[in-house]
Amino acid sequence: MIAGVWRPPQRIRHDLPDGQWPDEATARASRWFSPVQLGPLTLEQRTWVPAMVPWRATEEGEVTPEVLGWYERFARGRPGAIVVEATGIRDVPSGPLLRIGHDRFVPGLRELVAVVHEASEGHTRLLVQLIDFLRIRRRPEPAKFFRRFLVLRDAHRAAVPEAKDDAAVREALLAMPPERWAELLDERELEALRFGERERVTDTHLPHVRELPRVLPGLFADAARRAREAGFHGVELHYAHAYTMASFLSRRNTRDDGYGGSVEGRLRLPLEVFARVRAEVGDDYCVGCRFLAHEVIEGGSDVDDAMSFGERFAAAGMDFLSLSRGGKFEDAKPPKVGWAAYPYTGPSGYECMPTVHSDERGPFGRNVEAVARIRGAVRAAGHGTPVVVAGGICSFGQAEAILERGEADLVAAARQTLADPDWFRKVQLGRGHEVRRCKLTNYCEALDQKHAQVTCQLWDREGLDEPDVRLSHDGKRRLVAPRWRE
Ligand SMILES: Cc1cc2nc3c(=O)[nH]c(=O)nc-3n(C[C@H](O)[C@H](O)[C@H](O)COP(=O)(O)O)c2cc1C
Ligand code: SF4
Repeated sequence: MIAGVWRPPQRIRHDLPDGQWPDEATARASRWFSPVQLGPLTLEQRTWVPAMVPWRATEEGEVTPEVLGWYERFARGRPGAIVVEATGIRDVPSGPLLRIGHDRFVPGLRELVAVVHEASEGHTRLLVQLIDFLRIRRRPEPAKFFRRFLVLRDAHRAAVPEAKDDAAVREALLAMPPERWAELLDERELEALRFGERERVTDTHLPHVRELPRVLPGLFADAARRAREAGFHGVELHYAHAYTMASFLSRRNTRDDGYGGSVEGRLRLPLEVFARVRAEVGDDYCVGCRFLAHEVIEGGSDVDDAMSFGERFAAAGMDFLSLSRGGKFEDAKPPKVGWAAYPYTGPSGYECMPTVHSDERGPFGRNVEAVARIRGAVRAAGHGTPVVVAGGICSFGQAEAILERGEADLVAAARQTLADPDWFRKVQLGRGHEVRRCKLTNYCEALDQKHAQVTCQLWDREGLDEPDVRLSHDGKRRLVAPRWRE
């Protein structure tokens, strides 16, 4: 478990659900392994691997052999669909996160599509998640904050009247005990000191933030066009978690330029982005989005908002709606000095990737009830748009029951698929007893938090001396699960 990550105080340890697996005939006749239509795209199965960032691109955001290896490994399990990790739509450096913000990224992405096609023998459909995010700085040393980052105001100067000039004001502030900082700095300044400065969509005094509604539709549309050129079967617009588009949808979005406030205002940019994307790629290309069933933060959007969002996205012609939960900066814990805040360290982060150390409800299918309501609202409005659910789903029984009850149309599994990329195949062949089961304790999430190459504790020390095993930068872990021979 990770230090510094919020866990429900009840600390109730839950056992993994149903160890019962179907025989081959039952699996083949099941809903989960039956086809589904996402607009123009047919999936062979309702099994879905949601986006997971493995931190394996180059610093320039290019596909690497390690990226290819990661997706190749998932493709061998032949899920209905894999969504490639959050991929940046701008042409700006963003560390080892994949990028699609320029045509030069297309050849690498095309190779990725080819690798997945080959490894799944053409059975898996591949989508890519398109993301925009605002600037976030690392948490600074106090000295750096007071000497360089803090924009001095008269209130700061008045607190140290003896200081001769601004440089002396900065030194005097730095020398104060931290309790005084809490009195003298305003909320945003304190946040910049304790967490690192973080831009918000409501910072409309910043020209590039004010301009987002003008700029983003084109950026998303260009990225979607490149995805199509690279051969992806569809795109997932990232409207979830802590990033720009989710922040527009949030009830905390108080922009007064027509792009905030009411549900209508908050929906405006996400709908405009979708309309531009659709115009760019056409009706015969699969476009959907991932958004939050609930933000799980104070003052944030809840299921009622998400029901409205779902109805409107469906009415606009999205081909699927994928629902996640939480994962926000607003309740994140302060990072260590030199680190950036991570939006999965507070209660909302727990809701996104719940662990077995939980409350009475437990971690399993925590998002299902909310998703069922959202799907109900979409259906009541007359739309058949397929709905994807994720969060703490790691067994055939759970997935099948969700589909049987009509709570969702597709069932996604992230961590269970990382633990055992072949698990869909094993279950389908009636060999579920061979599934390596995810422990839901989030070792992988801890690696993600450090922006380290993501692996799973259940296999990353196994067979390190096998030929052709690719190791992590520190040489201690293998990067993909050992091969399973059918
Ligand atoms: C290492 C890691 C990286 C993730 N990266 C993304 C991402 O890029 N985009 C996204 O929407 N969700 C991301 N998620 C969240 C998962 O898609 C999923 O919603 C979450 O893990 C809950 O599902 P699970 O219980 O099946 O793991 C990530 C999760 C993990 C564990
Ligand atoms: S490290 Fe492996 S077992 Fe642990 S939560 Fe992640 S996927 Fe599951």
